[in-house]
Amino acid sequence: MDRRYRKVIIAGNWKMNVNPSEAKKLANALLPCAAVRDTTVVLCVPAIDLTVVKRVLRQSRIAVGGQNCHFEESGAYTGETSAQMLANAGAKYVIIGHSERRTMFGDTDEVVRKKVAAAIRDGLRPIICVGESELQREMGMTEDVIRSQVKSAVYGVSADEFRRVVFAYEPVWAIGTGKTATPEDANEICKLIRACLREKYGARPSRGVSILYGGSMNEKNAPALLAMPHVDGGLVGGASLDPDAFAAIVAATK
Ligand code: 13P
Repeated sequence: MDRRYRKVIIAGNWKMNVNPSEAKKLANALLPCAAVRDTTVVLCVPAIDLTVVKRVLRQSRIAVGGQNCHFEESGAYTGETSAQMLANAGAKYVIIGHSERRTMFGDTDEVVRKKVAAAIRDGLRPIICVGESELQREMGMTEDVIRSQVKSAVYGVSADEFRRVVFAYEPVWAIGTGKTATPEDANEICKLIRACLREKYGARPSRGVSILYGGSMNEKNAPALLAMPHVDGGLVGGASLDPDAFAAIVAATK
């Protein structure tokens, strides 16, 4: 983390867990996470939980976010939720291009690019996920994969809009597997993402963009990961459902 230039963000990704009836309880249990003053805490919840979670958090500094959005504003897209709808329900952030969306729901680089544009258009801050698969890593393709995902996601994002963008490096092989990238590896790839962004936006904007690490982050490995200069926070899956673990991860940013 380098607080001189960038916001430190810990975002929880509840994925397809937590019913609306359980969301109120979990959000209440997570309220103490607001205690670390200079850290932004975001809960990315299922769309159906947004309203209830937002209500619990209304007096708190904790922000809410969606996990995906459609790129159109409205229309005949059965089953989809637009960025504008998320914003209207109180979301400030939205995860875009999560590897689970890319691998299971056909979110190509082109779709990711359109969703990023939609999120910005409707006033949300996209948390753009990039990351290589295990096979890509074994084949030595990590750098190429990251470069092309990053470049494509922000294609068309102006310098002014870029200030709203957050990135997350999530190696696919580390998600939900208990395997974590070493702090050094996570730092190297976050640094690479920043270098790609520097090529497009220049030194100062790229220095200011928050780049999170995600993939089996927990209360034990968070301190070492967050100590790395290019890792500006975490995108936390499983551990975000455990109030004590999540609070400990947030506390590790102190
Ligand atoms: P886990 O923390 O469960 O590995 O999930 C990471 C993730 O995908 C966050 O978006």
